[in-house]
Amino acid sequence: MINNTVLQARGLKKYYGKGETQVRALDGVDLDIERGKFTAIIGTSGSGKSTLLNMLSGLDTPTEGSIRVGETELATLNSEQATIFRRRQIGFIFQNYNLVPVLSVWENIILPISLDGQKPDKKFIMEIINLLGLEKKLDSLPNTLSGGQQQRVAIARALASKPSIILADEPTGNLDSKTSDDVIGLLKMTSREFNQTIMMITHNPEIAALADCVIHIEDGRIVE
Ligand SMILES: Nc1ncnc2c1ncn2[C@@H]1O[C@H](COP(=O)(O)OP(=O)(O)OP(=O)(O)O)[C@@H](O)[C@H]1O
Ligand SMILES: [Mg+2]
Repeated sequence: MINNTVLQARGLKKYYGKGETQVRALDGVDLDIERGKFTAIIGTSGSGKSTLLNMLSGLDTPTEGSIRVGETELATLNSEQATIFRRRQIGFIFQNYNLVPVLSVWENIILPISLDGQKPDKKFIMEIINLLGLEKKLDSLPNTLSGGQQQRVAIARALASKPSIILADEPTGNLDSKTSDDVIGLLKMTSREFNQTIMMITHNPEIAALADCVIHIEDGRIVE
């Protein structure tokens, strides 16, 4: 592996089902992502983008192929090790936010840190919260927030532990263009500060144009 490669996939496949109804969500993906780079993932709905991010984060296991994150081969981790690995290394912004309904905004944001038995860097997290305009919502429950506010909580949660890799599934899909620009600015700023690697799914060509590299997926394959 090239020294500066932080994420590597080889022959990655994810098939759902069997026979005639089989879906080849990923069908042979190879990639090498350099540390500190901002990569945009584009492609039509159903092309396999979320599936790819789920595999890279270890949230789901591939049908075939291998993934290396830093020096760690994901297939060698059991599910408990994979969970700990994810909490420490990866900030994941889910397409459907995945907030915990019974926890407040603040509790949601620091949850991965608490689960890992770490102390949150409150000053840093408050900076993120202020930049995302969530300071008045810290005690609220997720179901009392708008879609865009919930999305911003999901973004704050992913950034709170200063992970080395941020995997974001359409993080600005529900935001107006001003807030969306702010979020991209925030991601670029923290990634520069902490040398973070970002992979972001987007349908927005203007956001893709800001990336260092664009990966285009169709029918489970990378197309040039
Ligand atoms: N759990 C599952 N069981 C069966 N098929 C699945 C499952 N998850 C995803 N798929 C299928 O895999 C393909 C890729 O889905 P994926 O969610 O990766 O698409 P996507 O590119 O993220 O689309 P979108 O832009 O709409 O979010 C789709 O055809 C989808 O129906
Ligand atoms: Mg998706």
